[in-house]
Amino acid sequence: MKFAHYSMPAMALFVACALTLPLTAIAEAPPSATPRSAEKLYASTCGYCHGRNVGPVILGRSLPVPAIEAVVRNGLNAMPAFRPSEISDAELAAVAAWVSTSAANPQEHGK
Ligand code: HEC
Repeated sequence: MKFAHYSMPAMALFVACALTLPLTAIAEAPPSATPRSAEKLYASTCGYCHGRNVGPVILGRSLPVPAIEAVVRNGLNAMPAFRPSEISDAELAAVAAWVSTSAANPQEHGK
């Protein structure tokens, strides 16, 4: 019996580490290894609604960055909230700054 060389607590510790380490690694991994650019994120996510009359036009209105970030994290009525696993803090800061400073896009009609 090879295992007889190891004490029971040592074995238990080894098993516990083997089980928990991979889970810890996943939990602490950054949500997105390569952050999407603000423009891409807007086009693929925000513009899906805000560029198509599902949500109000948000470009060209100089909306304050903290207000944009709060709406994205908390949601607002029909707008869903986005978690850090979906849009990282860095991506949110970038897209909020981009939305806040971008000119209106005439192809977005709004209401
Ligand atoms: C599923 C559709 C949808 C998506 C996707 C979406 N929104 Fe919205 N958003 C809405 C709707 C609808 C409202 C209007 C909510 C209300 O006022 O009742 C809104 C409101 C807002 C407002 C407040 C606008 C105002 O006039 O004060 C901001 C800011 C905003 N969204 C930013 C974003 C950003 C940034 C993203 C991308 C990360 C995003 N939204 C993605 C639907 C969406």
